[in-house]
This record gives sequence, C-alpha cells and structure tokens, in this order.
Amino acid sequence: MILDIINKKRLGKELTYQELDLFFNGYLKGEVADYQMSALLMAICINGMSDEETFALTKIFIDSGDVLDFSDLPGIKVDKHSTGGIGDKTTLVIVPIVAACGGTVVKMSGRGLGYTGGTIDKLESIPGYRIDLEEDEIKRQVYNIGLVVTGQTADLVPMDKVIYALRDVTSTVSSIPLIASSIMSKKIACGADKIIIDIKVGNGALIQTKEDAKKLSSLMIRIGEFYNREVRTIISDMNTPLGITIGNSLEVLEAIDVLRGKEKKNDFVNLCIELASNMVSMALRIPYAEAEMKVMESIKNKSAYKKFEEMVEAQGGKIDKIKVSNKVHFVKAPCSGEIKKINALEWGKISLHLGAGKENITDKIDYTVGIKLNKLLGDKVKKGDVLATVYYNKKLPEIKIDNIYKFE
Ligand code: URA
Repeated sequence: MILDIINKKRLGKELTYQELDLFFNGYLKGEVADYQMSALLMAICINGMSDEETFALTKIFIDSGDVLDFSDLPGIKVDKHSTGGIGDKTTLVIVPIVAACGGTVVKMSGRGLGYTGGTIDKLESIPGYRIDLEEDEIKRQVYNIGLVVTGQTADLVPMDKVIYALRDVTSTVSSIPLIASSIMSKKIACGADKIIIDIKVGNGALIQTKEDAKKLSSLMIRIGEFYNREVRTIISDMNTPLGITIGNSLEVLEAIDVLRGKEKKNDFVNLCIELASNMVSMALRIPYAEAEMKVMESIKNKSAYKKFEEMVEAQGGKIDKIKVSNKVHFVKAPCSGEIKKINALEWGKISLHLGAGKENITDKIDYTVGIKLNKLLGDKVKKGDVLATVYYNKKLPEIKIDNIYKFE
C-alpha cells in the first residue's frame, strides 16, 4: 500500500484523503520510513498536488495536534504570518498598531533557525520578557489589553515539525502545496479568524520568483475559503534587507522607533502600514482606506507605542534594559556612486556568523550583535562614507563589500 501510494504520486495521479492520511499519519507513528516519506515528498515536489489534495493534507496537519479556541475572547482574532526574511521585525510593529486600532491579536510566534532570530528571539532580547505564557494567562492578557505575542503553548501541528525537518534535508522545501499546507495548518490551529500572509520574494527568501509567490498566494486564499477563514496576502521584496537593522536587540529598537513615529518612511515602515491596515480592515470590517487612516493616527498619537509598552510590561519585559554591543566596526564605501544593490542573503550570513541567528537548534543567540544599515538602496554615497555599522562581540566575521553592495 505504501509503495502503491508513492508510485501513484510518481505517475502524477491524485491521492485520496485516505491515502494521504495513511501515509502521513503512518510516518508520524513511525510506521512509514524516512526514505519512503522522502520519496513521496519528492514526487509531490515534482508533480504538485490538486487543490483537493492540498485541502486534505492541511486537515491531516491540523488534526495531528491541538487546536486552540479563542472564540470566548471578544472581537475577530486576526493573525499574520511572514514566510521570513532578513531584518523582518514587522510583527513587533503591527501587533501593537492593530490592538491600538481596536483589533484583537493573539500571536504565537516561533524561534528562528537561520540567519537571524525569529520574533520570539527578538522579544527575548528585552530582558525579562516572558514568552512562555499559559493559555489562561494569554486569555487574561488579551481580555485586558487586546494583544499578546508569545511562544506556542500547546502541541500545535506536530506533523509539520517532522515533515518540515525532513523537507529541509531532502530539498523539498520549495513545493508550493507543501508550503501552503504547512503555513495554513499552523494559522488555523492557532485559532485565527482572519489571516494576512506576507510572502517574501527574493534571494533572502524561500520563494525566489514573483510567479511562484502568486501561485502560493492564490493557493493559501483558496485554503482559507475552504476553511471559512478570510485570507489576504502581500507579496514583498526580500532581495534587500528589510528596514535598517538586522539582529535581535537592534531590530526591537528599530521597531520601537517606528512605533514612536521616529523612523522616516522606508520599505519597512511602508510594509508595516500595509500589513497593519489590512489586519485592521479585516478585524473591524472596514474599508482599507479607513483602516489605513486609523493606523497612521495610532502612530501619530502614540497609542500604538503605548500598546507595545503595555504588552512588554504585562509580559515582564524591561524596555530600558535592552542592550546592544559597544564593539562596532564601520563598513565604508569603497567608491562614490549610487547604491544599486544591498544583498540581503550576504548580510544574513554575516549576521549568523556574528551570533544573531542559530545554525543549530542548540546554538545560543547573542542578542546584542547585528548590523545597522547607515545607507539604503538608492542612496548616493561618497568614497569613505559609512555604509553600515556592525555590532560584534567575539569575532568580527570577514565582510566582502563587493559581495554585498553594487554601486553605479
Ligand atoms: N514557512 C512555513 O511555516 N512552512 C513552510 O513550509 C515554509 C515556510
């Protein structure tokens, strides 16, 4: 039977719910071997999946673990997911904005494995911030202040953990139906009513082309329709780092500046406004333009920053204790000209070598290191101008400017 299922997919035929269930749950129980699951994943990667197969797989993923229920909390629960990228700290900005505008956000975030920390690692750079709230604490906090950003409580979608680990080592991560079912199952299991997905495209992202991003976008919207969840998507660039910082404490400080309206408009600020406006529009059932006005006002009148402070305080964090390393290295322009390229992936690798991210699950993150971009894409520079400031602790990694920047 197991071999028949692999063979059927190898021939490009459609699998039934029962066949997918037998295979995937068999794997979770240890009855299907790694090499058999790897063969099926590769066949899916090459031959794709129909919508019916993808909806079925999403259900099998959701049903593999706990499903949270926040229906007793007031308001429509809106959630956001990003397919990840270098310098992506949008959650830290948009969750307080949405709460300040009257939305309800229960956000369970993950740790990062890769170039920079995940949202939870970033928040842990605020000394004292608790990311291990229990379900009743989450509910109380959301009831009182409308927002929470914490780590996962329950055992959500255990199937995704084992399948993702195998995809990672069998070159089957890039399959669009596998990505869509992985992301959507987690969002649905987290109890979200409405969801915005930020699909990153570029060399620092999982998805490399706009065409694939559009396919992923429409598939996730269709999964949402099937499960009666409104899903909106944004496709955003990840060839260039997002915003002006990479690294945990630095990114929290940048998020704070954006919330305080101190950061002038750049790609990161614009993306935050777009994501938050979509979430407010969904949460309050109002048109996008009206939601955008509310979002802008929440930054201007500081209510969004106040929500951030309330959340950090409720979770035990001390904003004034955030630390950045005092060892700095300035990266200087080797020539004069306009910056035509800042390679996100290269800065990401340096950030990992600095200790801002984890190569292995057991690595320890150094919250105080990272990179600040003093000049951004399109800026004109003179030879010797500071392009970036590298905050390091132990050892400064080799920085090859030609690999990161292009000038004209
Ligand atoms: N992010 C996920 O959560 N799952 C994927 O498969 C890819 C990106």
